[in-house]
Amino acid sequence: MDKFLINGPCKIKGNVSISGSKNASLPILAATLLFDKPVVIKNLPRVRDINTMLNLLKSLGSKIILSRDKKTAKIINKKNMKTFASYSLVKTMRGSILVLGPLISKYHKSKISLPGGCLIGARPVNYHLTALKKLGMKYELKDGYILAKSKGKLVGTTINFPKISVGATENSIIAACLAKGKTVLKNCAIEPEIKDLTNFLNKSGAKIKWKGRVCKIIGVNSLNETEYSVMADRIEAGTFCVAATLAKGNLQINNFNPKIIGTEIKLLKKVGAKIKSSENKILIKGPEKIKAIKSIKTKEFPGIPTDLQAQLMVLMCKAVGKSSITESIFENRFMHVAELQRLGAKINIKNNTATIEGNTKFIGAELMSSDLRASVALVLAAVVSTGKSYINRIYHLDRGYEKIENKLKKIGVKIKRLK
Ligand code: EPZ
Repeated sequence: MDKFLINGPCKIKGNVSISGSKNASLPILAATLLFDKPVVIKNLPRVRDINTMLNLLKSLGSKIILSRDKKTAKIINKKNMKTFASYSLVKTMRGSILVLGPLISKYHKSKISLPGGCLIGARPVNYHLTALKKLGMKYELKDGYILAKSKGKLVGTTINFPKISVGATENSIIAACLAKGKTVLKNCAIEPEIKDLTNFLNKSGAKIKWKGRVCKIIGVNSLNETEYSVMADRIEAGTFCVAATLAKGNLQINNFNPKIIGTEIKLLKKVGAKIKSSENKILIKGPEKIKAIKSIKTKEFPGIPTDLQAQLMVLMCKAVGKSSITESIFENRFMHVAELQRLGAKINIKNNTATIEGNTKFIGAELMSSDLRASVALVLAAVVSTGKSYINRIYHLDRGYEKIENKLKKIGVKIKRLK
């Protein structure tokens, strides 16, 4: 199993380019199951989760032609696709549940493994199933699988999500595209990745309109041949902004629209970072002294994203004074705390709030990754630690960050991948 060796502390300086968004690519690739005609998706990030989704589409019968740089996929679906998604594939990537909506909407049947939980929480899919049931899907849970079918086309209706859910919103939008009549989804998640999905579908002839957290979809008979380029990854961009703020960096972040991380930029300015942003780049200078923020709470978009929580915790460890971070999206997303404590962090957890002492001197150590975002937080912590840090199980990182060691090396981080 690969691990990283990082020799800290490192100064961060230079230019970094942001890859395509994993969390926009996954629903867009799942939605290609709605198409009879070829679809070309560009700017895909070369990360493990995308390979898993492409393999899942192939197992369902899609023909996938990848460009040499693996960032463009041409997807051609067969007349009669398979509708079975095995546990072996789904267990490695929970986002596979996103093929349920398109399969039931297009082929009126699907057998797909329940995704199961992960380290950050139970990750149930009840909101997905309830919404698709309201559209006409019938299902039973058997041997860890969802056995779903519908009597012909799904039928548009009004659905009010009990809680804001990114995946349930995406599954329902995709399914409603080919349903009969109008579907109105209320209390939707409005993450930029979902807007990217609806831009892609509308470009293909779908009829989707947004008003706040309400999404209206008029069903169509089929979608047209399309070419679409996925948005840049806002969590990767946010991660590099935190890195520059943390390590007194001087960083230019390219090909990224700073508007969609306005909340994060505002917070980092409060912490002391000097940030200038233009059309599609960000110039960020880290402060000599990092100001503590009394209380940071993760929220659904446009709030502080839960996927940046671990990275912000590392920043608060180095801040002058006490701070607190409340995780309000997932029930167990503090796995990185124990690892940060091994580096010297002084953090107390009570329920879903972590209180951080600040002024921490990190000393390099052996560290264990747990989930994708916690792993990158450990990388950031190692960058500002004194001495060698080894970060184990970095396959978590490879799921969502494209060759992050190459990007970090280019901006001054002394990092090596050890086989
Ligand atoms: C998406 O997960 C992202 N994954 C996550 O990113 C992200 O952290 C999350 O949204 C929140 O922004 C992808 O886009 C592939 P939710 P998702 O449905 O859709 C509960 C990463 O690191 N819930 O908005 O699974 C759920 O347990 C990943 O890239 C139900 O109870 O998130 C959670 O507590 C991690 N029942 C909350 O809602 C359901 O049916 C929000 O989950 C669905 C969700």
